[in-house]
Amino acid sequence: MARKLWAKRGLAALATGAVAVSLAACGGSGAGGGTDDGAGDGEAGGLVGVAMPTETYERWVADGDAVESGLEAAGYEVDLQFAGDDIPTQQQQIDAMINSGAEALIIASIDGTALGSQLEAAAASNIPVISYDRLIRDSENVDFYVTFDNYEVGVQQGTSLLTGLGVLDESGEPIADAGPFNIELFAGSPDDNNAGFFFEGAMSVLQPFIDDGTVVVPSGQTEFGTVAIQRWEQEGAQTRMEDLLTSTYSDGDAVVNGVLAPADVLSRGVITALQNSGYGEGDLTIPIVTGQDAEAASARLIREGVQYSTIFKDTRLLADQAVTAATAFLEGNEPEANDTETYDNGVQVVPSFLLPTVIVTADNLDAELIDSGYLTEEEVASGQVDE
Ligand code: BGC
Repeated sequence: MARKLWAKRGLAALATGAVAVSLAACGGSGAGGGTDDGAGDGEAGGLVGVAMPTETYERWVADGDAVESGLEAAGYEVDLQFAGDDIPTQQQQIDAMINSGAEALIIASIDGTALGSQLEAAAASNIPVISYDRLIRDSENVDFYVTFDNYEVGVQQGTSLLTGLGVLDESGEPIADAGPFNIELFAGSPDDNNAGFFFEGAMSVLQPFIDDGTVVVPSGQTEFGTVAIQRWEQEGAQTRMEDLLTSTYSDGDAVVNGVLAPADVLSRGVITALQNSGYGEGDLTIPIVTGQDAEAASARLIREGVQYSTIFKDTRLLADQAVTAATAFLEGNEPEANDTETYDNGVQVVPSFLLPTVIVTADNLDAELIDSGYLTEEEVASGQVDE
């Protein structure tokens, strides 16, 4: 597929040559900026469109910044847009990128199925499309996917929930006679392909302990469709947790011991609901709550013993991979995949590059997040990232 793509791009280079040259003329001063490096492509310095879903999650802002600066350092012009989690806005932004001569697109979709006509337009102009972190579904016009090992993220979330509860020991071995513990389950947005991977990964670890009674879900709500939070919204998670506390825990008999929360923003919604109903005071200890994304606000809560864990996904490395993939396409090469089996988007298996992730708790927070330079001590202490 990629070879066919490049054959087509050879024609595109001719067709868009004027745009490429004019952009190159005002291109960045980084390595290769605006110059033909002799690789025979003549396209360095072109415009790359970068579409991110929202600025309400710290990670997407970090992703956008890192992709932009990486591309600029490689000599490309960048059109970076955030869509405020609004699907029509993202569609319009991508249309505009194509119309203004983007030579490659890097897209973190809001709804993975909603970009069909944009992708058709990109294909018609021979623009390679890199799906960023979230798989774009139901289209043959997705050329590459850069992401983390999303199933493994879920496994890590389930594992850290069990470790925090005391069902598993540090080496992952079951602890004899543990439980029973009451847990509730949350999942991400149903229109995000990742959400299902996270939930399946987590349930692969939790289900055996639900089956043998070590862990109980008192609400009985265990189906993805029931526990999913539309658009990954904090308020949605808070409201659902409040509803669960009212429906299932208000008679005072049962208490919540743990919550599978799939992203730090949702974790904080869950924690707010729990705190508002008295958890974290007196004998009512705050449950074990998982997370994802290593956001500063949650890193602070982890340090304070309020949130138990998060999953660290180093967005700097993901951005690097996106830049590497875009550069490969624009230089007429094929990006290197390390997974060509897992990510079937409904029409094709998209060649992917998967990055590893790390469980972070209070024990390794400083080593993983601060020593690596991902967050500063001040950011963790204040719970806010510096602008
Ligand atoms: C990402 C997560 C993020 C979530 C909500 C998912 O697609 O993989 O890192 O927490 O979206 O923005």
